[in-house]
Amino acid sequence: MSYPYQIQDKEGYFTSYEQSVNDPEGFWENVANSFLWRKKWDKVLEWDFKTPNIKWFLNAKLNITENCLDRHLENNGDDIAIIWEPNNPNDEVRKLTYKELHAEVCRFAHILKNNGVKKGDRICLYMGMIPELAIAVLACARIGAVHSVIFGGFSAKSIADRVIDANAEYIITCDGAYRGAKEIPLKSVVDDALTQCPFVKKVIVYERTGTSVSMIKDRDVWWDDEMQKVIESGLTDFPAEEMDSEDMLFILYTSGSTGKPKGVVHTCGGYMVYTTYSFVNVFQYKPGDVYFCTADVGWITGHSYIIYGPLAAGATGLMFEGVPTWPDAGRFWDITDKHKVNILYTAPTAIRSLMASGLEHVEKHDLRSLKVLGSVGEPINEEAWEWFHKYIGKGKCPIVDTWWQTETGGIMISNLAGVTPAKPAHATLPLPGIQPVLVDENGNEVEGNGVSGNLCIKFPWPSMIRTTYGDHERCRQTYFSTYENKYFTGDGCLRDEDGNYRITGRVDDVMNVSGHRIGTAEVENAINMHDGVIESAVVGYPHDVKGTGIYAFVITEHIHHDEDHARNDIAQTVARVIGPIAKPDKVQFVTGLPKTRSGKIMRRILRKIAEGNTDSLGDTSTLLDPAIVDEIIKGKV
Ligand code: WTA
Repeated sequence: MSYPYQIQDKEGYFTSYEQSVNDPEGFWENVANSFLWRKKWDKVLEWDFKTPNIKWFLNAKLNITENCLDRHLENNGDDIAIIWEPNNPNDEVRKLTYKELHAEVCRFAHILKNNGVKKGDRICLYMGMIPELAIAVLACARIGAVHSVIFGGFSAKSIADRVIDANAEYIITCDGAYRGAKEIPLKSVVDDALTQCPFVKKVIVYERTGTSVSMIKDRDVWWDDEMQKVIESGLTDFPAEEMDSEDMLFILYTSGSTGKPKGVVHTCGGYMVYTTYSFVNVFQYKPGDVYFCTADVGWITGHSYIIYGPLAAGATGLMFEGVPTWPDAGRFWDITDKHKVNILYTAPTAIRSLMASGLEHVEKHDLRSLKVLGSVGEPINEEAWEWFHKYIGKGKCPIVDTWWQTETGGIMISNLAGVTPAKPAHATLPLPGIQPVLVDENGNEVEGNGVSGNLCIKFPWPSMIRTTYGDHERCRQTYFSTYENKYFTGDGCLRDEDGNYRITGRVDDVMNVSGHRIGTAEVENAINMHDGVIESAVVGYPHDVKGTGIYAFVITEHIHHDEDHARNDIAQTVARVIGPIAKPDKVQFVTGLPKTRSGKIMRRILRKIAEGNTDSLGDTSTLLDPAIVDEIIKGKV
């Protein structure tokens, strides 16, 4: 595989960047030309940010899996596509070549077809990190069905909400999943969810843990039984469905400012071009490199940089089933040595937690195979950056700090490994093709360097969000109505004297907890479902490992004699309603909340209290009940 669009040096970056701004259509046409299309586009781009209406590579036809699989078969079919490291380091590693992965995807596409799946149908996937998850995702894409992967840590209610919103009639799951010392009963959670979804026609279950499960007659089928039928029928290849460039590829639900998660929609052509282009450039992938992305496929990072981007680039990717701290906090480094990993892409929260476990877990490993390190999901603090650089990269590996979002589909602002300079805690420069701007509160562009503002993007890029599933107006309102003619990211940002971007965090009511996006309203809704709760307010606060912790102020009907017990009960309810990732770290019982005279909760004040920053609360005299602030400060947990 060669990558004609791979930028080689710093001058190349600046030349490309200039080209991409002066002639965006020519720039992207050039990148897109190196992919496999059944039919090329009539027009590169059509857009307006008012509606919004965004179309890339109009009327082009393709199937993304022909780019991720078929096109590698002739010359690179025996290259390893996926190395799979199981949860238990003593269990057998699995390696799938491109030929094998292609064959598995084709077989599973037959299974989908045999079970009634058609182009355009929505399918929810709720699985652990096993190769079958990648196979199922790709088989959906091959048949033209729209996948919606749900992170394995979400609750039955969260699954039901997503299945209903997407009207998904098919589910793919596992009996269970291994995560460190834990075994998670996935199928049983799905069963709870589906009591609310009688319209679901089929559930395909892959056996991973051997735990006993309930199988509903005519609805639930075993992956292996279905596979046996396909093998017996002698069917091998599955001709890929021809997709329009703008046909939906997948939905991925993510949190926003309201209580209801939104289904971010990505389409085939632009998403393929951008994820591959950004993968190859940011990580400077070279054929033969072993690339390990530690994300879960339940999040966008897994979609773009475990599955689609690397596979379309013909890369060798490592997929890991377990957790960084099991059997001990040296697991990532163990895997790195075992598989001679060259590129490691992980999250600040993992780095901080491994840093806290002590150097003894690092020092017994060699780590000399590493060439490039990457970070994603939240701002990386300088301390974690330096530790990662010094102890993991041994001072010689560039770190790419990649800023992007579920909605952007791919990495937007990042240094390119070894090509453009890194700066600790800075995402640095936009990729060629990306036009970021900072705006002030009046929506005016803030020009020049050494400035700050809200981060927007003023020109479309191929992998941007097209709509929020079933609710286009929500997409317009959330991203395109705050600032005219700009996509608003929801992040605050600084631009230093040299033009490097530094993301400072969300400016809306979204928290970034261990790199997972969680809306404060979602958590409040969940807490309010708990017996005896009258009202609650949730804010984020700085947390050493998670980046942001969840702090809940809760008003209840009764005073609790055993407050810790009551706190745990509330946390249980949140885990039931959303999932364990959204459990509050701190719960403070209060008798009132600071509100304006019009009844609006003053989150600014609560945030300061949660941060322990009570010297600068500002003017509280206009509150409905100013005395409540002192009471809350006194009771801080
Ligand atoms: C944050 C994850 C600082 C940001 C790919 C963004 C970051 C949100 C970085 C999106 C980074 C992601 N530096 N902040 N390198 N990367 N973020 O949708 O607040 O799960 O808006 O996508 O994570 O989270 P999401």
